[in-house]
Amino acid sequence: MFTPDFYLPELDLYIELTTLRQKLITEKNRKIRKIRELHPEIHIKLLNKSDYYKLLAKYGYGPLGGSKVEGINKVLFSHTQIQRRVISLAKRISQDYQDRNLVLVGVLKGVICFISDLMQHISIPVNVEFMAISYYGTDKEQAVKITKDLDASIAGRDVLMVEDIVDTGMTLNYLLNHLYAHNPASLKVCALLDKRIRRLVDIPIDYIGFEIPDEFIVGYGLDYHGEYRNLPFIGVLNPEIF
Ligand code: PRP
Repeated sequence: MFTPDFYLPELDLYIELTTLRQKLITEKNRKIRKIRELHPEIHIKLLNKSDYYKLLAKYGYGPLGGSKVEGINKVLFSHTQIQRRVISLAKRISQDYQDRNLVLVGVLKGVICFISDLMQHISIPVNVEFMAISYYGTDKEQAVKITKDLDASIAGRDVLMVEDIVDTGMTLNYLLNHLYAHNPASLKVCALLDKRIRRLVDIPIDYIGFEIPDEFIVGYGLDYHGEYRNLPFIGVLNPEIF
């Protein structure tokens, strides 16, 4: 008798998980070989403990222990938690903008993961525009410079500004003023992460994913010196790193 732990329909693959030590899994290996002989059409893989932990860590489920992502202290939001929240935001946006002329405006680069997932779950037609900015002066608060502006006109259209994170609010404040000057029919804000505790400019955010504590976070688009953007989860950076 052999009952694999999981079946992954998209891969047509059965998974047998084992937490036994390597030298103790001979019997399982023998059973799997037997199944393959008897039913060559069945695809099955044995995942041992370390493979299992690596997979968990990759998708943001603790413990990071065995296959730690260097520099990450803890997972704040797992891939699944993020996806659930993004889907619920997309649902609300789809309802609120029914029969409207919606343009999503994202600011590069931190927003890439969020806007990409969000737009895929919005069920009404949307247009997507990107802007890029840089900061000059010694501090972000001093000045924002637009290095890439909108490609299409937003005059008379319903604009939803999409941000990965709102921290001091200075960037958003600047960008909203810039967008208002282009006469949109409406202008609202959707931010995945709200670090409200650090706010300097009070800007209303219409759609918020999560409120977060004052910690340095990376992953799911957010970086530290250009790194970590590709993590599928959001984690807290070890303070020793920055
Ligand atoms: C982040 C984020 C916002 C800005 C928010 O961008 O995408 O645009 O900071 O900060 P504020 O509320 O204090 O103004 P970042 O400068 O990290 O650039 P990136 O998007 O290219 O990573």
